[in-house]
Amino acid sequence: MVFIYPDSDFPIQRPRRLRRLKPLRDLVRETHLHLEDLIYPIFVQDGFNLKVEIPSMPGIYRFSPDTVTDEVKKVRDLGIKALILFGIPSHKDEVGSDTWSDTGIIQKTLDRIKKEVPEILVITDVCFCEYTSHGHCGVVVNGNVDNDLTLENLKKQVVSHAEHGADMVAPSGMVDGMVKAIREALDEAGFNQIPIMAYSAKYASAFYGPFRDAAESAPSFGDRRSYQMDVGNQREAFKEVYLDILEGADIVMVKPALAYLDVIKMVKDAFPVPVAAYNVSGEYAMVKAGEKLGWIDGKKIMVELLFSIKRAGADLIITYFAKDIAQMINKGEIERFF
Ligand code: PBG
Repeated sequence: MVFIYPDSDFPIQRPRRLRRLKPLRDLVRETHLHLEDLIYPIFVQDGFNLKVEIPSMPGIYRFSPDTVTDEVKKVRDLGIKALILFGIPSHKDEVGSDTWSDTGIIQKTLDRIKKEVPEILVITDVCFCEYTSHGHCGVVVNGNVDNDLTLENLKKQVVSHAEHGADMVAPSGMVDGMVKAIREALDEAGFNQIPIMAYSAKYASAFYGPFRDAAESAPSFGDRRSYQMDVGNQREAFKEVYLDILEGADIVMVKPALAYLDVIKMVKDAFPVPVAAYNVSGEYAMVKAGEKLGWIDGKKIMVELLFSIKRAGADLIITYFAKDIAQMINKGEIERFF
């Protein structure tokens, strides 16, 4: 669509007219934040009676399966509809076998949540880095993640998650063909109604630092640049998203969010599927740190950042701010922001 500008401008055109009164500003605001946009990440760790704050992520904790349900109830009571689970197992091995064990950390957590808070949508992160002794996102052969061997283990992991009640699975390992393999495995096991939210354009980013401390998932050697995307690339994100949709992704994700708003916008404009953005740990930590130092107004900055992600085109936002923002939405505080 090409807009033909009228040939007379000022003083006929006065953009400030629409900014003078708050109800007018409210009427013409193009972007809104809703409780329905939010997905809250939750970390669970093997053990009992745990609620351990993550030092670089104030307000975010690691729970054990027995304590997590209280947190999930709080999340539900705030009006948040969905959460995504990350597990820290007590047993790590070369292949990450905890991920497909009936007594694995995610399976135990799913059992609890589905029994006590069945109405909340539970998404599981599907990866291996938190579960392997070497911290890489799959089976390592000769110092490199072997793509196709990893696919076999991903299939076992998703079927086990679905058997324990996961409502959606979110593969995050940037393994080629992962969406297709997972779709086939779920369908064969009778779970053709379980959607896949693919971490399609996931960059090799320094913004994951605090998460790796939280999830004990930093690689013990090397880095993730042989599977996660190069930060200089946008067109490659198109290719990754396109391939994931062909393979059966129902929702595609761009991650991180803030340094990649151009990618979110491109994906939203190019593809007719919902777009998720992951507002990652480092993005959260920077705001909380600035707030703690007294250098910025953390609440206002948070709202502004989340609006930027929505404005870029994200339909869903995975964010550690979900509880904070839900509280503001419920108290009408976002309204006062404008
Ligand atoms: C991989 C995974 C990571 C994050 C989500 N899923 C870490 C990584 O790729 O190293 C990062 C999320 C965040 O930083 O908040 N399982």
